[in-house]
Amino acid sequence: MSLLLGMNIDHVATLRQARYALLPDSPNAEPSVVEAALEAKAGGADSITMHVRGDRRHMQDADVFRVKEACGLPINLELGITEEMMDLAFRLKPEFACLVPETREEVTTEGGLDVVALFGTVREAVSRLQGAGIRVSLFIDPIPEHIDEAARTGAEMIELHTGAFANAEDPSAEMERLIAAAERGHGRGLQVNAGHGINYRNLSELLKVPYLTELNIGHSIVSRAVTVGMRQAVAEMVEGMKSYA
Ligand code: PXP
Repeated sequence: MSLLLGMNIDHVATLRQARYALLPDSPNAEPSVVEAALEAKAGGADSITMHVRGDRRHMQDADVFRVKEACGLPINLELGITEEMMDLAFRLKPEFACLVPETREEVTTEGGLDVVALFGTVREAVSRLQGAGIRVSLFIDPIPEHIDEAARTGAEMIELHTGAFANAEDPSAEMERLIAAAERGHGRGLQVNAGHGINYRNLSELLKVPYLTELNIGHSIVSRAVTVGMRQAVAEMVEGMKSYA
């Protein structure tokens, strides 16, 4: 089976919020997350990932409903385990939910959800989401005990945190951890996904990790879209200015 791409469009909203945080519904508010999702679909994305954070720094609640309604691709909602976000998930009913740390205390050394320390909380959240028909993933570091505990929560999937791999000058040690984690997760019957910091340069190395089903990628693709789209965007504005008498 080929590897699936979950396109994370959070940073499209980051760009909009930089100018329109106080006017999110203005007709001028751009870029549009709905258009971005549709373009991602046209480019071959298999699902759309969005994360509404407690501080609403990028995606707003209305965004995720609009994208789900307009796009037609499966939605992966990333959420911290708070009642507010659980309620959002129950209302949105995404196909997938990925539980991520919301506060410092929930974060492991490298940034995944500390499923060992939070086992009871995570298991309850998993079962409530599954009860609403949502498949659940846990964003965790490639640590053996965390994979075992993730499997015990009943979650269907794990998303291996690739941030340490992406930031390493020499990624070989991180690759070993990711490979061992993917094998362990697969052995425990979990779907294994990966995400964070994946870009056009480190992708080929990451593809050596076995048993991956889906990669969740955001920042690098949004960044590349800005670069490859700049020429056309400038040309259109220059064209528009030509009618000046
Ligand atoms: N996976 C998870 C759980 C995330 O929270 C994020 C965004 O931080 C990503 C994947 C995508 O990371 P990036 O934007 O670095 O590609």
